[in-house]
Amino acid sequence: MKPAVLVTKRIYPEAIEYLKAHAEVDYVNSDDGLPADELLARISGKQAVVSQLTDKFTPTVLDQLDGVRVIANVAVGFDNIDVAAATRHKILVTNTPDVLTDTTADFAFALLMAAARRVVEGHHFVHSGQWTKWRIDLLVGQDVHHRTLGIFGMGRIGQAVARRGRGFEMRILYHDAMRAPEAVERETGAELVSAERLLSESDFVSLHVPLLPETRHMIGAEQLRRMKPTAILVNTSRGPVVDEAALATALAEHVIAGAGIDVFENEPRVHPGLLKLDNVVLAPHIASASVDTRRKMSMMAVENAVAALEGRRPANLLNAELWAGDGRV
Ligand code: GLV
Repeated sequence: MKPAVLVTKRIYPEAIEYLKAHAEVDYVNSDDGLPADELLARISGKQAVVSQLTDKFTPTVLDQLDGVRVIANVAVGFDNIDVAAATRHKILVTNTPDVLTDTTADFAFALLMAAARRVVEGHHFVHSGQWTKWRIDLLVGQDVHHRTLGIFGMGRIGQAVARRGRGFEMRILYHDAMRAPEAVERETGAELVSAERLLSESDFVSLHVPLLPETRHMIGAEQLRRMKPTAILVNTSRGPVVDEAALATALAEHVIAGAGIDVFENEPRVHPGLLKLDNVVLAPHIASASVDTRRKMSMMAVENAVAALEGRRPANLLNAELWAGDGRV
């Protein structure tokens, strides 16, 4: 008998076809997401779940999963799943790293450029018919080239952002609990500094940390005050890394010059203060949203799920302690 898999939300069709060749598929072919009680009911009798970042697997939810062997998240971030609790229940958890690294870094840079050079304000200015004459200081913004780029979190995506910064001949600072490999520091010229130095010396601060208890509200009023008044904050990591209310106040009071924000504390809701401002570029959590990358993420997740169901080690296993030698613990 084929194993049973729940796909909680719409993914790319080829991923569903692949799954169907290996499993009985219960496909929620919708973008709405299931409420917690419905999610639990639909998981009942399944051995695998292909989930998305809007599906919350708290310890309480995980306590109630019977017979689930793997949760394959279609995202690199996995703060929606309590991996420690999943490990206690011997449920494998996988994510989709690497395939989205460059795509996400491209978008972080797009937000950085858009906020620095006021691209969205320019678009609205032209679109609304306000452009009547050339003016020496019309929509003047901040230079990007040769400025200082500060990166919090020098993992895969942080490094890819550093490479882009290098292309713009920027000086790169980074802050991370772990030092980046020497080859990365050499290639990008990135220098490991304290959080305080990064905040006070950078013209652009880009966030690439995972959401953890210690990174929640890592950027709040105090950190924003340490930044230059000309500086721009970019967040493509997770919304709660930034205190959104504090950011709205800092932008309104010109404590910093601008921001490019793709992720929010209570998605899809955005702090109303941010919606009133011209000096922030807002995007609906789309940093990894290129056609190729979202397809690859869908395929990677279902391949992880099928590997686990077939007793093979999933390529992107997060709780590696559940695997020893060539089998599950
Ligand atoms: C998207 O936010 C992801 O974590 O892949």
